[in-house]
Amino acid sequence: MSNTQRSEPRLKEMFADDFLIGAAVNPRTIETQEELLSYHFNSITAENEMKFVSVHPAEDTYTFEDADRLAAFARKHGMKMRGHTLVWHNQTTDWLFEDKNGNMVDKATLYARLKSHTDTVVKRYKGDIYAWDVVNEVIADEGAELLRPSKWLDIAGPEFISKAFEYAHEADPSALLFYNDYNESHPNKRDKIHTLVKLLLDQGTPIHGIGLQAHWNLYDPALDDIRSAIEKYASLGLQLQLTELDVSMFRFDDKRKDLTEAPEELLEAQAKRYEGMFGILREYRDHITSVTFWGAADDYTWLDHFPVRGRKNWPFLFDERHQPKPAFHRLVERTVKV
Ligand code: GLA
Repeated sequence: MSNTQRSEPRLKEMFADDFLIGAAVNPRTIETQEELLSYHFNSITAENEMKFVSVHPAEDTYTFEDADRLAAFARKHGMKMRGHTLVWHNQTTDWLFEDKNGNMVDKATLYARLKSHTDTVVKRYKGDIYAWDVVNEVIADEGAELLRPSKWLDIAGPEFISKAFEYAHEADPSALLFYNDYNESHPNKRDKIHTLVKLLLDQGTPIHGIGLQAHWNLYDPALDDIRSAIEKYASLGLQLQLTELDVSMFRFDDKRKDLTEAPEELLEAQAKRYEGMFGILREYRDHITSVTFWGAADDYTWLDHFPVRGRKNWPFLFDERHQPKPAFHRLVERTVKV
């Protein structure tokens, strides 16, 4: 897209003493955004290509072509790679939970399938992937219930969570294993995530980190809540990574659809927001080892279709032409030593 010679400071160098700087990518963006990605980022995550449904559509069929291309991209550019994701309630195939007649399988069958899937996928990317999101989003959003309803829970009970970590650890003992979730800075969910991870640690589960998805917006969560969440998770002695950072221009329940380009005052608000967020992240650099954006530039973001289909959003540090936005310049002013 852009053939301009870049002269701005590189994100990965600005934060070299703090944490890795990552981006979610897919087979299209590693082409359309290659120049931007290789200049600024030193870590990638597959946006969808390593999810269960993508790599293992039928019991005897694995489809690794897209995932392999992303791993090759990381190798080509000397980037680290995070693995995403092994156990989730979404984008997981039905066959995993069913027998040939469409009845629910028993726990032993589910575990045997999970073990086989984990062995195959994790071992394939040993050496390429240094950290896996082993379990994604099992905490219930609302209420006092700890876990969200899922087929995993119906069939196996809560123990499927520790099993997933054990299998991942057996498949690659050197990989760092993460629990990953969203709304991670909201106090109620934060406390539940903390409870779950503490239970896992107390029972000796091989878990090494907590992934804060960080799908944030201009208004939420409050910086104080972000700080409290980081402190609470860090108190468990695990490393923390921001795994899916984006800063939407809209509140979650704002369904407006009238903006075709980002107004200057929102770009300025976003610059302030990024400044505040990265100020906190740098304070906690002893605990935070990576900050991955869920994309790289505003020409491609899942937020164009969520929660409002077809509404343009501008969540990143780079615009639709891959050029630095006010938020990027603000981080430079606050970060680069002169
Ligand atoms: C969650 C998942 C990601 C991705 C986003 C939306 O946060 O963890 O894999 O699907 O939703 O794009």
